[in-house]
Amino acid sequence: MNPVKSLHIKKPSASRRSVPLRKEASNGVNITGKTKILGIFGYPIEHTISPAMHNAVIKALCLDMVYLPFEVKPLQLKEAVNGIKGLGILGINITIPHKEAAIKFLDDVSEEAQLIGAVNTILNKEGRLIGHNTDGYGYFASLNEECNFNPKDKNIVILGAGGAARGIAAALAKKGAAKITIANRTIARAISLVKAFKKKFPSTKFRAIGLDKNILKTCFQDINLLINTTSVGMKQKQALKTPLDALARTAIVSDIVYNPLETLLLKKAERLGLTTHGGLGMLIHQGARSFKLWTGIDAPTEVMRKAALKTLKMGGGRQEAASRNL
Ligand code: ATR
Repeated sequence: MNPVKSLHIKKPSASRRSVPLRKEASNGVNITGKTKILGIFGYPIEHTISPAMHNAVIKALCLDMVYLPFEVKPLQLKEAVNGIKGLGILGINITIPHKEAAIKFLDDVSEEAQLIGAVNTILNKEGRLIGHNTDGYGYFASLNEECNFNPKDKNIVILGAGGAARGIAAALAKKGAAKITIANRTIARAISLVKAFKKKFPSTKFRAIGLDKNILKTCFQDINLLINTTSVGMKQKQALKTPLDALARTAIVSDIVYNPLETLLLKKAERLGLTTHGGLGMLIHQGARSFKLWTGIDAPTEVMRKAALKTLKMGGGRQEAASRNL
């Protein structure tokens, strides 16, 4: 059966970009002399689910492309990034631990990626390597799709102050959030984020706090959205001690961890009758945005979701496979 028909996906029009189509894509190893290469650099890389998501899209759209995992050790990052040019690779995702380090080897970096201080996508644009960060967009798109949440004029608390928090704060401020509080274990890190973001987004009110339960409690009373961007939650039995019972009944609790699909924090929120939002959608939408940057094509996110869920199920339960966005 033609997979394009069965999934009701519109084939990309030839006029959009010169992405080569395969005549037939009955299996994943149909490589031709014209096959374009996409991929991901990370270390370790074996637990990535990005190849499954992107190759599912390539197959569904019958594109003459392949998405490969590359295990790139930190000392080899420069050679690997230069290799994108040398080998004519069309696009690369960058994951842990290279998101910050890769910037210095690129020809240009988008404004958003500069602000976040990290790239997760490299586009080889006619021999020039351009860095982007699609994580914040992915988060916003997923929240909008799953919870119909519009950040405009909203009051938001973000737990954590790392790269993930920066990407998400940038996306929400760009969409008009009224107030964003950054709550972090190391308060100095939250203060430095807030300082940079206040300048960049003057219409959003930014505030830095620690993880003190009483301060969080006061803060939680009138917020619309609570987001966990810390790495706590990747272990099944771990959750930050957050006073969720102080949240208004209408608040959304969100976690960027996608493995486990439902973290302890989300389970706790659900028990309190709050709306919850997990990290899988962010993973899918950041990937779809990367795919669009490389090919000009809107990736069918349902195909990505199905492939991601299948891969997670195959690796499910293995602690080393626990993952979060970024
Ligand atoms: P990324 O760039 O992927 O977001 P990161 O820079 O390592 O990752 O940031 C991880 C975040 O999780 C940080 O905010 C970190 O807090 P610190 O800045 O205080 O280190 C937070 N984090 C990690 N482990 C934590 C824990 N056990 N309790 C509270 N916060 C934690």
